[in-house]
Amino acid sequence: MQAIAVHGGAGRIPEELRPEHGEGIRIALQAGRQVLTQEGSAVEAVMAAVVVLEDLPAFNAGYGAALNSEGYVELDAGLMEGRALEIGAVAAIRDVQNPIRVCRVILQAPQIFFSGADASRVAREAGIESVDPDSLISPRRLKQRQSGASIPALDSGLAADTVGAVALDEKGDVASATSTGGMNDKPPGRVGDSPLPGCGYYADNKWGACSTTGWGESLARILAARRAIEGLERGLSPSQAARMTVDLLKERVSEGEGGLILLDCQGCFGAYFNSPTMSYGWWSERDGEGVNT
Ligand code: GLY
Repeated sequence: MQAIAVHGGAGRIPEELRPEHGEGIRIALQAGRQVLTQEGSAVEAVMAAVVVLEDLPAFNAGYGAALNSEGYVELDAGLMEGRALEIGAVAAIRDVQNPIRVCRVILQAPQIFFSGADASRVAREAGIESVDPDSLISPRRLKQRQSGASIPALDSGLAADTVGAVALDEKGDVASATSTGGMNDKPPGRVGDSPLPGCGYYADNKWGACSTTGWGESLARILAARRAIEGLERGLSPSQAARMTVDLLKERVSEGEGGLILLDCQGCFGAYFNSPTMSYGWWSERDGEGVNT
């Protein structure tokens, strides 16, 4: 059984940008699906999907990510596989367009998490191209900042918060990946939920895989991704477990806006969000396919 799902973030996607979001989701889904159908692993599939979204300026990750209060990009990402519970994560990296590729390197290391300049060093040592941090700032982000308009943290006015993917491969392995520029106007060095295992993502071959999006501080407080997996452990369907987690977010924390995608080990997909929009899509041998913006 093979399945993959991707999201382009919870937020408030303006009507005119929804086609661009939908197209990005379709391309990412196709990239991940192709890996799976060519007998690639769930890890490779989520990586392929997230790299697509990191490269597209419509999404808040990689190129085109949100700018912090000093006007530059700091990226966070996390990757997990469900067989041995291996993890690779980076935080506040400034000179790599695809932080999820650095996560892939760390996934194979004894450590699980590198931040800042040392995450950049790990990338360089692995031969991942280092880019000029200014090259990650998209024209839209620059224009938005130069307009001087106040930008709500979760409402980029351009896109939404964070991208992610979950997958199940033919061997029964699951994986999860999440990548973000974080909240708009965040202070330098601020890290949200996205690179934190159990908060922004989680994967366990016994139950399934999850990627979350939304207010990072809130998602971290309830360990959102692990909480969704716990729903599967308790016998909930992925849709029920997704809803239970987002409802808990609202109940327990004041800035509780967000959403998640969740895949179980049978290839069943679920998603839920309480923000005005969340773009996502799925393909599963069991559940068919679809895109929502
Ligand atoms: N969910 C992304 C962040 O808060 O950084």
